[in-house]
Amino acid sequence: MCILENIKLKATTVVGISLSASLMITSAFGADKKIDRAVDGGVKYDVKNSKYTSYYVNDQKAKFSHGRIPTKTEIAAWNVDVMPDGTGVPEFDMKHGKVVLGDDGKSKKAQGSVEQGAELYDAKCGMCHGDFGSGGKGYPALTGGTVGSLKNQLMNPADENPNMDPPQRSIGSYWPYASTLFWYVQDAMPFPNPKSLSNSETYALVAYLLSINTIKIDGKELTDDYVLDREKFLKIKMPNANGFYPDVDTKKDPKQGVKNMTKFMSDPKNYGTGTKCMKDCIKGKIPVLKIANELNDFQPTPSTKRDWFVPENKSAHPMQGVYEEKCSACHGNAAIGAPVVGDKDAWAKVTAKGIDAVYKNGINGINGMPPKGGHDMSDADFNKIVDYMLESSK
Ligand code: HEC
Ligand code: HEC
Repeated sequence: MCILENIKLKATTVVGISLSASLMITSAFGADKKIDRAVDGGVKYDVKNSKYTSYYVNDQKAKFSHGRIPTKTEIAAWNVDVMPDGTGVPEFDMKHGKVVLGDDGKSKKAQGSVEQGAELYDAKCGMCHGDFGSGGKGYPALTGGTVGSLKNQLMNPADENPNMDPPQRSIGSYWPYASTLFWYVQDAMPFPNPKSLSNSETYALVAYLLSINTIKIDGKELTDDYVLDREKFLKIKMPNANGFYPDVDTKKDPKQGVKNMTKFMSDPKNYGTGTKCMKDCIKGKIPVLKIANELNDFQPTPSTKRDWFVPENKSAHPMQGVYEEKCSACHGNAAIGAPVVGDKDAWAKVTAKGIDAVYKNGINGINGMPPKGGHDMSDADFNKIVDYMLESSK
């Protein structure tokens, strides 16, 4: 039953059908008596006609016959919009729409450091987005490209400047506002478990993502100990902030909008450089098709080594901890189409082709499955994890 109707039960009716234990409790207090009880997180709602008002009593003025007005907590949990003008950039910490309190019982300030962000990133994001945001098979890179390269046309390799980098859009090179980054991460990531991050965790992740994009705030480099909060967030200027169409919505002087546009269009650099190739473009060697890593502005070589996870629980399967750290984000649920551990049928289909083919597919990657799940490990270790996953799915 998902429609919450306006059910009006009288006290006598309630007593009359007192077989239901929960209704009996309510009737003992008298149907219309207010009872404080938490039904929506920590928020307490009045009871009216033996129903929690916010849930059951449809008191909407409009003539809808079903549904109800969302509760404050529900609105707070969904209302995470963060706008370029600073609207919604949080000052205090919240998680799941609820205020996070500090040890002193007061609202905790929302903030997070680059270092905390790096830890969160490795635990919750790296398996898809790659070490240091370098991107994985099918999952977007979170670094790379330059603002200048965005205007490059994919050029005829025989053109005058064949080594030009093709456009590469990433948070750092393309996104005009950091508010989008905060909002996107908090609203949609990590992909299998969206809306699970607190404001502070989101600040930490944003700080980390800006740091690997070598973006400075107010001239300061985002080193590990840099702590991002609302005040500093509002000072962020993204490299491509002016990279979109000029302001044409000039309300005071509509003519100014036209002037802005004319100026923009008169500079060919604004909409592309190089000769666009429309026909027979691939001739001979193609120097522009370099591997993505070389195109990155990002200098430090991404590490390929990760600390091997040591499971704390000695009685657990030796591969359980490793599985949880490296594979469960994708294999713990059906969000991206990975066979879910524990789902006997799904794994029966996978193993039908023979275990050697399964190992091979996992090691080389297949569709949304990055090679070895995007991790650096020996084939033998990988196969052991697969064995554990299969054992747990019998
Ligand atoms: C299970 C895989 C997975 C995990 C884990 C994951 N993401 Fe994503 N992420 C995706 C996919 C898929 C997209 C593209 C979604 C789309 O375009 O609709 C994406 C897109 C993004 C983007 C937008 C990139 C762009 O340029 O469009 C950002 C930013 C991002 N993720 C951040 C994060 C952060 C931060 C975390 C960890 C808290 C995380 N992701 C965890 C799969 C994942
Ligand atoms: C980024 C998400 C992701 C991660 C991380 C990941 N997997 Fe997968 N995996 C997938 C998806 C998606 C598939 C289904 C691929 C397909 O379409 O057949 C898959 C399929 C597999 C398969 C079946 C291959 C076949 O023959 O069909 C195995 C085995 C496997 N994964 C093992 C692992 C192991 C072990 C790990 C951890 C070391 C891991 N995966 C981490 C996404 C992931």
